Amino acid sequence: MEDAYYITTPIYYVNASPHIGHAYTTIVADVLARYHRLHGVRTFFTTGTDEHGDKIAETAQKAGVTPKTYADRISAQFRALWPELAVTNDYFIRTTDANHVDTVRRILQKVYDAGDIYFGQYEGFYCVGCERFYMEKELVDGKCPDHQLAPEYRKESNYFFRMGKYQQWLIDHIEQNPDFIRPERYRNEALAFLREPLEDLCISRPKSRLTWGITLPFDENYVTYVWFDALINYITAVGYPDGENFRTFWPVAEHLIAKDILKPHGIYWSTMLKAAGIEPYQHLNVHGYWNVDQSKMSKSVGNVVKPLDLKDKYGLDPFRYFLMRDMVFGLDSSFSEEAFVQRINSDLANDLGNLVSRTMTMAVKYGNGKVPAPAAAVAEDNLLRETAARTVTEVEACFADLGFHKALIAIWEFINVTNKYIVEREPWLLAKDPANRARLETILYNLLEVLRITAVLITPFMPGSAAKIQKQLGIADAAGQNFDAIREWGGLPPGNELKRGESLFPRVEIKAAEASPEPAKADVPPIKPEIAYEEFEKVDLRAAKVIAAERVPKSNKLLKLTVEIDGERTIVAGMGKDYSPEEIVGKTIVVVANLKSAKLMGVESRGMLLATDTEEGLTLLGFDRPPKIGAKIR
Ligand code: MSP
Repeated sequence: MEDAYYITTPIYYVNASPHIGHAYTTIVADVLARYHRLHGVRTFFTTGTDEHGDKIAETAQKAGVTPKTYADRISAQFRALWPELAVTNDYFIRTTDANHVDTVRRILQKVYDAGDIYFGQYEGFYCVGCERFYMEKELVDGKCPDHQLAPEYRKESNYFFRMGKYQQWLIDHIEQNPDFIRPERYRNEALAFLREPLEDLCISRPKSRLTWGITLPFDENYVTYVWFDALINYITAVGYPDGENFRTFWPVAEHLIAKDILKPHGIYWSTMLKAAGIEPYQHLNVHGYWNVDQSKMSKSVGNVVKPLDLKDKYGLDPFRYFLMRDMVFGLDSSFSEEAFVQRINSDLANDLGNLVSRTMTMAVKYGNGKVPAPAAAVAEDNLLRETAARTVTEVEACFADLGFHKALIAIWEFINVTNKYIVEREPWLLAKDPANRARLETILYNLLEVLRITAVLITPFMPGSAAKIQKQLGIADAAGQNFDAIREWGGLPPGNELKRGESLFPRVEIKAAEASPEPAKADVPPIKPEIAYEEFEKVDLRAAKVIAAERVPKSNKLLKLTVEIDGERTIVAGMGKDYSPEEIVGKTIVVVANLKSAKLMGVESRGMLLATDTEEGLTLLGFDRPPKIGAKIR
């Protein structure tokens, strides 16, 4: 392990409030930062917000405020969230900070002076959602594959970064440093991308179109492209070019991102650094995506999971534990509240919570409230010692490999070996005979020592619970409890005053009502008389996707929708009070495709979408998993 460690998260866009995805990345960074501090490594951890660009300017305009006011508001939400999640970042950067603006201009000037930025003409398809130009072949049915919207055609003069010039250098660098981008699947993805000729990168936007950005130092009619601006945050945060932190931490920089922003980090950033004469970062660590109940999280679907809601409902440490335990770093994972509750009840309440409470109860009851002095260990105790030593080594190996879930599995094996040790040793029986006193005290000591070691091992993941365990063990100086202190067995001082605490992880009772809500009987209309299957079959129900929506003029209820089934068609739906046009676009719905067409307020409707009642109005019928568009509903 190096003697310094620098960990970064992406800086988050300020056009939406924080959700579980942002929380995950930042908690992983926190787990890594805490882990390195527990090894005595000088650590610097930064996060922050990305505030310039079209997207923010547009969102602010819709909200009727200036971009800066909007950015201030959302940035403050991120900044306030992190301490609530026990995130211990050393720095919080905003791209509107003066020191960052200076750094961006300095880098631009440097690259410009070196001849790697030139002025040129550009025309092409631009997706505002992605804030980038698309090549025609990248579009799917003429639309941006991420946002499913037709990009705008733009033609303008701009500044370009000679990214293509560094293509071969980057390929060589990735090949010579196999874990530069990791896990391997993302390295392969970056290399696959580099098999195509690398185009130069447009790094400016004319002020005639966008003013919300950092003015180029060499042309005040242009602002900097938001990605060129944002990526530089990683060196601003450590005081580029001559700060002490830059010298210490830049050579050990570790970036943490999700797969969505692999390209800007793997390709743009690496080549930008090269052009600016700065050493590359050490590693780009890429994780997968959290989906929610198997589908992509999105505002329009309304399934965005808010970290504070979960923290308030289930507690912070269980939330952190769940995120780290249920995602394999690098792969996607699906969040479900049931899976979360199950983890709380089994791993936390049952395994760890029980181990702590049984051990403390017995130690207080049979040991006068103090850590007993152990007698010589007998063979049966060796298993615990060996498992402890092996677990520490294994956890370290897992961390080196970003295998956080595996580290937790190893810790839980240790916990369960110890629970088994209790069951097999039966201390409560030994307590009945004073002749067994020495043996009993040794067993109690062993159990308390397991708790001491476990507390250090879980500190990066669940710092609050680790501190509570240490308090119960009477360890005054938790700062001395680091990885070095758990390599050797027997660090818990006999005589320590024990303080039983409250249960660490109360079980979550799943109320029957919550698990399967009963419909309000009184509102259910009577079921209609039976029909034959053939009659039902006449109704042709299809999976469809809403691709455009607008209000029907002069109607507050009707929406004119363009939906895709076997091609595009128009459907008029009376959902205008329940859904806004923006909200309904992109949804997959159920449509009666063979309903006789009808004119509604002058607009011909070919089909009908299906919806049902909620307490607050109508809800659209949807799907548990994304269907094939046009598929028959059977
Ligand atoms: N502003 C850019 C990043 C610039 S970094 C120089 C940006 N911001 S973002 O707000 O969209 O954040 C993207 C990041 O948030 C992802 O890379 C990931 O870290 C996190 N996540 C957002 N949604 C996520 C999931 N559904 N699942 C996991 N992480 C996700 O891109």
